[in-house]
Amino acid sequence: MKSIGLLGTKPAIIQLLKEEERESFEGFEEESERNFQKLRFARLRILIGTIVMDRITKAARLMIVSDLDHTMVDHHDPENMSLLRFNALWESNYRHDSLLVFSTGRSPILYKQLRKEKPMLTPDITIMSVGTEITYGNLMLPDDGWVEILNQKWDRNVVTEETSKFPELTLQAETEQRPHKVSFYVDKTKAQVVMKELSDRLKKRGLDVKIIYSGGMDLDILPQGAGKGQALAYLLKKFKNEGIPPVNTLACGDSGNDAELFSIPDVYGVMVSNAQEELLQWHAENAKDNPNVIHAKERCAAGIIEAIGHFKLGSNSSPRDIADFVECKVDHVNPGYEVVKFYLFYERWRRGDTDNCETYISSLKASCDPSAIIVFPSGAEKTLHECIHTMKVQYGDQKGKQFRVWVDRVLSTPIGSSTWLVKFDKWELAGDERCCCVITAKIDAKGSGASDGYTWTNVQQKWLEGYEKKDDSTWLF
Ligand code: GLC
Ligand code: MG
Repeated sequence: MKSIGLLGTKPAIIQLLKEEERESFEGFEEESERNFQKLRFARLRILIGTIVMDRITKAARLMIVSDLDHTMVDHHDPENMSLLRFNALWESNYRHDSLLVFSTGRSPILYKQLRKEKPMLTPDITIMSVGTEITYGNLMLPDDGWVEILNQKWDRNVVTEETSKFPELTLQAETEQRPHKVSFYVDKTKAQVVMKELSDRLKKRGLDVKIIYSGGMDLDILPQGAGKGQALAYLLKKFKNEGIPPVNTLACGDSGNDAELFSIPDVYGVMVSNAQEELLQWHAENAKDNPNVIHAKERCAAGIIEAIGHFKLGSNSSPRDIADFVECKVDHVNPGYEVVKFYLFYERWRRGDTDNCETYISSLKASCDPSAIIVFPSGAEKTLHECIHTMKVQYGDQKGKQFRVWVDRVLSTPIGSSTWLVKFDKWELAGDERCCCVITAKIDAKGSGASDGYTWTNVQQKWLEGYEKKDDSTWLF
């Protein structure tokens, strides 16, 4: 059987199709050219389609393409405050109609490691290894089309052969050496000379490569057509071909390998306040007069939020910046916002970050139907009102400790004129333990408009494999 790219064979693809699409492949026995093309096309649609068509039937309102280290993730903030603020903003206001793209220099191995260490959201698309690997969705399905493009005028062996002649270059870890990326460390003082000489030598050998210097120490060698900017251009073209180019795109970065992101047409850009010298220098030389690229005043994810406000790309008010939800009425709420708000309040209550007052408890009770049931991962059941009683006495039990709650992949599907099924991952970090529940909640709009608030009518929880809580006796919501 012919293999349809990296995703595999016919059965693998058919399994990923929607029910109604699957039918059209029934009785699909012969491997005729026509059927083969049909499958290839289906696969392409899955790549973009699983993430876009299920969730977004029209163009994304905002596509954020962000670097991770020192941009989305602040390694100097052990509390991860700006990241958590961004997460709350994204899940409450953007997840339902926008696209989150992470673009990192890290290989898939180091990227997955970072996701375990930091409270990061699940992106719709992941661009790794400095724009040489693109994957889609939570399953991280690879884009083989991109791989084919990168094979042009690229020969890894020639690169390793030529670079071995430079004693100034120290090879990076094995995990960071990828099919279309060879990476070294080189001292700041030697970088420019080495890059020039290396580039000349590789040209003589018939290769067309791109050499990028980042973070004042990393040197990456990639095919000329690769890089974070080219990968973004490729994605934008794909969306355009599908007839759904994002309404706005915001690129975010801090170091040399992010520079390309800021020269892609029709893209807003933010260099976070803590951007590296090499990026600021690139900006001064190449994009100084471009009003669509700013150097933020704020660090990391806070700088991204600042840019959303600066370019007026949508709401830039994170629910984490709202001290009192009872006092503050928010416009344009949606079920996603309700979920973020609920779990944020839960975190604050247990941390003792809010007042221990009856008003909050009554307000929380009012947002849950008195007969609403919650089914825990163990299968045990309680009413939500019983849970609120339990929660009441847990006030401040996490004070002074590491305790954070955040939600990811919040997806709401209307199942009636004023009812939604909301599916999301609820993460809880307590001390060193991190656990996660996949939750499906049924939420009703209270009155005629969303401004009247929501009522939770049912909650079902399941552990996310690998993230079960060891002692679940204090597990709530
Ligand atoms: C990440 C990668 C590394 C690369 C650097 C700059 O740190 O792990 O291989 O050199 O980004 O692109
Ligand atoms: Mg970075």
